[in-house]
Parts: sequence; C-alpha cells; structure tokens
Amino acid sequence: MNTAPTLRAGLDPARLSTLQQRERAAYAAARPRSQALAQRAARHLMFGVPLHWMNDWSTPFPLHVASAQGARLQDVDGHAYADFCLGDTGAMFGHSPAPVAAALARQAAQGITAMLPGEDAVWVGEELARRFGLPIWQFALSASDANRFAIRWARALTGREQVLIFNGCYHGTVDDVFVDLVDGQPRTRDSLLGQVVDITRTTRSVEFNDLAALEAALADGQVACLLAEPAMTNIGMVLPEPGFWEAAQALCRRHGTLLLIDETHTISTGPGGYTRAHGLQPDLLVLGKPVAGGVPCAVYGFSAEAARRAEQAKRNAPPGHSGIGTTLTANLLALAAMRANLAEVMTEAAYARMATLAERLADGLRKVIARHGLPWCVTQVGARTEFQFTPTPPRNGSQADAILDPALEQIVHLYLLNRGLLITPFHNMMLVCPDTAAADVDRLVDTFDAFVGETRPG
Ligand SMILES: Cc1ncc(COP(=O)(O)O)c(C=O)c1O
Repeated sequence: MNTAPTLRAGLDPARLSTLQQRERAAYAAARPRSQALAQRAARHLMFGVPLHWMNDWSTPFPLHVASAQGARLQDVDGHAYADFCLGDTGAMFGHSPAPVAAALARQAAQGITAMLPGEDAVWVGEELARRFGLPIWQFALSASDANRFAIRWARALTGREQVLIFNGCYHGTVDDVFVDLVDGQPRTRDSLLGQVVDITRTTRSVEFNDLAALEAALADGQVACLLAEPAMTNIGMVLPEPGFWEAAQALCRRHGTLLLIDETHTISTGPGGYTRAHGLQPDLLVLGKPVAGGVPCAVYGFSAEAARRAEQAKRNAPPGHSGIGTTLTANLLALAAMRANLAEVMTEAAYARMATLAERLADGLRKVIARHGLPWCVTQVGARTEFQFTPTPPRNGSQADAILDPALEQIVHLYLLNRGLLITPFHNMMLVCPDTAAADVDRLVDTFDAFVGETRPG
C-alpha cells in the first residue's frame, strides 16, 4: 500500500501546516504595536480596518504602516520591508515619488479643488494622447469609476445594452462585470453584496483566448463594448495567445462593438501600456491606480470616432444629470500629481530599469522552481511577475481559477513578510518599481527558495 502523503502543489501539507503555525506566532510576537492598534481599531472600524479588504492579508492582524518611501515600507514596530506589493499597483512607481510629493505640496497651497480646470489638465490631455494614441480624454477618481463611466459612454454612443467580458476578469467594483461562467452559463458572482439586479441580463461572458466564443457572443450586434485587460492579471496571470488580439479586434470591428481596454495593471508593460507595446487599437482605454503616483485619480481615453459619437449622444440627451462624473473628479491636486508623475516618474528610463529587475526576479524564481522540480510556472508582464501553482500557464479564466489556492498563497506570503518581503495579498503577484534594489530581488528569490526547501517532502 502506498502511504506517501498527498502533496499540495508539490509541497508537504504537514510541513506547511507546522510552518504556518510557527509563522503566525512569530508575526504576532514581533509586532506588539500593530496588535495594539488592531485592538483599538476593532472598536470603531468595521472588521477593524478602514477598508475591509485590508483584512485579506495573510497576517493574524493587520500590519500597520508607519511610513513608505520608494520601494521600502516601515511598520509601526520598526520593521523594514522591501515592498513588492506597492499598494497593489497604486504605488507601482514607488511610494511618494519625489516629483509627485513636490507637486502635491506646491498645489496644496494653491487650491485643491475648484470644479474648474487649470493648465495641468491641458498638459495631461496632450501627454495622454501622445502616450496612448487616443486623442480625447476624461478623468475619474478611481479605475472602478473610469470603467463604470466608459461603459456608460459605450452604451450611450452605441445605443446597445450588452457588455461583454472575459470570465475571471476584475475591473474594480463595477457591478456590470461581476458575472462568472458556471458550467458555461453566466451567473452573478456569488460574493457580490447587496446587488439585486440580474446582471446577466445585460452582461455576457466568454473565456479568454476563445475566438469562436467571442464571435458567437458578438454575432447578434447587441454588444456595446468588450471590456478587457489585454493580459488577464486578476485571477493569476493569463496571457493572450499569439494572434488573439488581432483576431479579437477584427471581430469587434466587424460587429460594431467598441473595444474598451483596461490598462490599470498592464501599464506594467511600458509607458504606453500593453496597448502601445503591442499595437492594439482600442476605441476606449482606462488607466487608474498608479497614474497620479498613488493619488486617487484615473483616466479614460476615446478614439476620435468614439469621442465624436459620445459628444453627439450627450448633445442629443435631455439636459440634466448624465450619470457620469463625480464632484472631485479631475481636481487641481490630482492633476498636478498626475502631471508630475507622467512627466518625471513614468519615464522610459524608469520602465527600462523595472523590466531588468522583473526579469531578474522571474529568472531567479524559475531557477528555484526547476531545481526543486516543482509543478509551478512564472509569468511576467513587464514589471509584474507571478508564480502560479501549475506547470503550464493557464490559457483562460477557468483554468486560472482552478489552480488558485488562497490558503497556500497565504502561507507563502506570511513566510516572506516575516522576513521583510511584502508581496500582494491576492494570488502571487509581485511588482518592482524604479527604486527596487537588485539585492532585494535576490533576497526575495533566496527566501522563496528557503520556503520551498522547508516545505518540500523528504
Ligand atoms: C484591471 C483593473 N481594473 C480596475 C481596477 C479597479 O481599481 P480601483 O480599485 O483603484 O478602482 C483594478 C483593481 O485591482 C484592476 O485590477
């Protein structure tokens, strides 16, 4: 009889369990100040945190931040971390980049919000057009809002109701896209709270990299827009197969469906995102999170034709609320930050450095995986790298979902965190920024190696 234990992603479950208990105890013992703040916070903050997602980390209680600068973060107990989470992309170009901090200080003394534009808005519009190739731009306070507004414009200007997404996508808290394929049928995502409308009535979902399904979903000419990340990043990474986007764009054009590309995470690819690097030609493009160096702000762009039709739709509508925009949108402070960030931080030179560091990280992780014979793989999109618990990269959202193992992810993350290395709490995503030190990349690889060494069977 074979009595060998069933392995979990190639690791020994008993060792994983012992290690997790040890790491949780070590975390708590070393962080009395974070623990005391967590206890205080529990009295007046729901779930003990200002945003309930902040409980999704691997830690027994939230890590409280004292300061963050460049690629480094300091907690209230005096521990320093090399930050590869970078605010889950909000700080993708480093914490408090000096030009952004200076612009904020300058602008804060000269008006924060006026519901009127200044020169910065004009400069930013010109720069976005130069970078992304889309001539016309609007702003929002978050990528979620930008996606919501872009969808609304898409529906208004096409006169169509339906939105199409790829199964397993995430585009922020946009209700329209919380639809999963379950046994091939669209279903409102189970986890969505307080939503009472049947979203599947107006949202369609197909698998990424499935051109036949895409064509079938578009064929009746009812789809206003296809909203997509050019490479999926939110269910683990899923890359487009060669030729996929060329064919998908042609299908959208043939069926009069607008292509709305969400570059919020794939801006890791280069200064003009995946779109520019791979010659995509979207009708609409969204970018949030890091675009203003971490100051809440997002942008969305229109092709000339989409903008013309959008303006027409607004002119044809009765006067009154459009349902698009918020009062603080494009405020003076955010625009000053965005200008400084685009001009001085999100530069070609910064991207070149990030790409070199991310390659070093991906190579290092691949070598560790190969040396231990683990059934894992590593995927990289510019400055964004991820290891996944599968030997072959997934080709769609269902495959990517099937290999997620949140409990195992948390053990890895906590092990790294206790050794001064932060990675994103969701799946196994790691970002490098221009300030990331090569030595910290090597330390991350070595610590990953040590983790595998401790939890391999034998
Ligand atoms: C691709 C993508 N779009 C949009 C969003 C929403 O960003 P925010 O939460 O800042 O609104 C996210 C968040 O993770 C994202 O990954």
